[in-house]
Amino acid sequence: MIADNRTTAKRNTAEAVGNGDGVIVLKGITKRFGKNVVLDGVSVAIEKGKTTVVIGPSGCGKTVLIKHLILLLRPNEGEVYFKGRRIDNISEAEINEVRTHYGFLFQGGALFDSLTVAENILFPLEQHTRIEDWTAANELVRSKLAMVGLDGYQSYYPASLSGGQRKRVALARAIALNPEVILYDEPTTGLDPIRSDIINELILKLQRELAVTTVVVTHDMTSVYKISDRIIMLHEGRIVADGDAEHIRNHEHKVVQQFIRGQVSEEDLEALRSNATVSQ
Ligand SMILES: Nc1ncnc2c1ncn2[C@@H]1O[C@H](COP(=O)(O)OP(=O)(O)O)[C@@H](O)[C@H]1O
Ligand SMILES: [Mg+2]
Repeated sequence: MIADNRTTAKRNTAEAVGNGDGVIVLKGITKRFGKNVVLDGVSVAIEKGKTTVVIGPSGCGKTVLIKHLILLLRPNEGEVYFKGRRIDNISEAEINEVRTHYGFLFQGGALFDSLTVAENILFPLEQHTRIEDWTAANELVRSKLAMVGLDGYQSYYPASLSGGQRKRVALARAIALNPEVILYDEPTTGLDPIRSDIINELILKLQRELAVTTVVVTHDMTSVYKISDRIIMLHEGRIVADGDAEHIRNHEHKVVQQFIRGQVSEEDLEALRSNATVSQ
């Protein structure tokens, strides 16, 4: 009986999956959409206070992976842990509570156009509490905007901001609840190199100043080398490389080298050639 209890308790800890340092742990995650196996038994422990970057070609499952970290998708098989607690099998209401520890900046995670910058930033707060102390709320907005270099923009509407500024407001909103973990999905996509670099600098600054655990999905190698402590590459539903920039640069896997050098694979070239023949 005692042994049984111990087994049960152990099964619910990150330690049990052999990833004791992980703030978020994925254990043997398989995700299918119909016959399309997008994640095929992925296990990874996201380390506290570090910036982990997930890379891989378009459509390889990066967004699907990051969504599992916050249970926006539930796995078909496998387990997800947040700070040692298993979260893939809990109710949506409980998951919502867990999500208050996360900030996320996702593709299409747009600002509300009909709300001012300040109202957008207070939105996550208002979902969890009724704001009574407006002095404190205004100070919260000011401090979050100052973090992203936009104090003074409180009463602007999103439509009057540039793409880069809107991303920064979304980031201010993502940190409104003082998250322990921030997830970014393609944060620099659609921005020119200078605006991309401002976002990279902000990711670094937030990680340093708020001591958050950061996970970034990107295919922008300039960002990867600048912000990452650890790089994970996904290919055909599995992790094919996992290590620091040096490790990835020297990785012997052909797919890794092709990806980081931005080269087209032989198979892709073959497909292009055969299409060319067809169209002739
Ligand atoms: N909700 C969904 N329903 C069906 N298929 C999906 C869904 N979300 C993602 N997929 C499929 O999963 C694969 C990986 O998608 P995604 O994670 O968005 O790739 P990326 O690496 O570009 O972020 C793609 O084949 C995509 O079509
Ligand atoms: Mg994606």
